Amino acid sequence: MAGNSFGKLFKLTTYGESHGKAIGGIIDGCPAGIQLDFEAIQNEMNRRKPGQSKIVTQRKEPDTVEFYSGIFEGATTGTPIGFIIHNTNQKSNDYSHIKDVYRPSHADYTYDKKYGVRDYRGGGRSSARETACRVVAGAIAKQFLNGIKINAFTSSVGEIFIDKPYQDLDFSKIENNAIRCPDETIAQQMISKVEVIKKQGDTIGGTVTCVLQNVPSGLGEPVFDKLHAELGKAMLSINAVKGFEYGSGFCGAKMKGSDHNDKFNEDGSTQTNLSGGVQGGISNGMDIYFRVAFKPVATTLQKQETINSKGETVEMQGKGRHDPCVVPRAVPIVEAMAALVLADYTLLRRQESKQW
Ligand SMILES: Cc1cc2nc3c(=O)[nH]c(=O)nc-3n(C[C@H](O)[C@H](O)[C@H](O)COP(=O)(O)O)c2cc1C
Repeated sequence: MAGNSFGKLFKLTTYGESHGKAIGGIIDGCPAGIQLDFEAIQNEMNRRKPGQSKIVTQRKEPDTVEFYSGIFEGATTGTPIGFIIHNTNQKSNDYSHIKDVYRPSHADYTYDKKYGVRDYRGGGRSSARETACRVVAGAIAKQFLNGIKINAFTSSVGEIFIDKPYQDLDFSKIENNAIRCPDETIAQQMISKVEVIKKQGDTIGGTVTCVLQNVPSGLGEPVFDKLHAELGKAMLSINAVKGFEYGSGFCGAKMKGSDHNDKFNEDGSTQTNLSGGVQGGISNGMDIYFRVAFKPVATTLQKQETINSKGETVEMQGKGRHDPCVVPRAVPIVEAMAALVLADYTLLRRQESKQW
């Protein structure tokens, strides 16, 4: 199976399945001498972990990360950082009813068709449990990127959305509620919506907005390795993501150039930032901001018609512990993936600078 690694110089490889013994990874290329704050790493894990509130899956995992290599006296050594997170709260019987049945819009059908072997327990390798490993690596990348601010938050749930530019939001309030929305009034509406949806045995989608501040100019390449292309790949590689837009995004397609162009100040900064901090694939020093769309989780607890591995039409009903809405847990994953891209592109820039 290809595609278990992400990044060129700051490279994360992950392993493990949802109901196996453990998941984990290797971070290769992390520079030496970063004094790690392990509490901050665990805090990021706690933001993603299941069971943290009543509006997420009730699987209870402590998601404690153990490091095996690449760290000496609390600092990175420049060698591969190996880590493991044990799976402690699997209930594999919850999945026996889908052993030979494909959940509509999940990964079951495509995975089985491609590999012919499917660990149906919890989605196996296709499970979002894998994203815990991304959060570990992202937390280390964040510490390497000291000075760059990375803030993601829930910007919509279903039809409920924050109707304000991000500049009017107080990011220190993101963690104040279970949905991770910095606008408390909207947050309560979102939480009530998820509660109603959950009671119905249904699921709902939403968006996460991410803002990257103090990113220096010069990250990214003009052709295939555009900074926004890598951010797009990073975000679209997260489970359940259906869309990515940065800067003016799809709204820009409705505008005239005369309204859309960001007028320069003499120091090279711009008066507006519809470019979203990236022009021609290269960061320009302005805030980078983007939005990621998450679909409603495929495993609803309602009865659905589907097919089994023999191609027969059958009725199925999801069981077990599932997220009614992924966005609150996706917030730290989006931040982690953004941090991995910035760490990688920072190292690429350093390497380039040496060559010039
Ligand atoms: C944080 C997070 C939690 C998720 N939890 C569930 C879940 O409980 N049940 C489920 O069926 N899918 C869940 N998903 C989505 C599936 O992993 C995803 O839909 C599946 O792997 C198929 O991939 P695709 O939707 O990207 O095509 C979750 C995704 C994320 C990001």
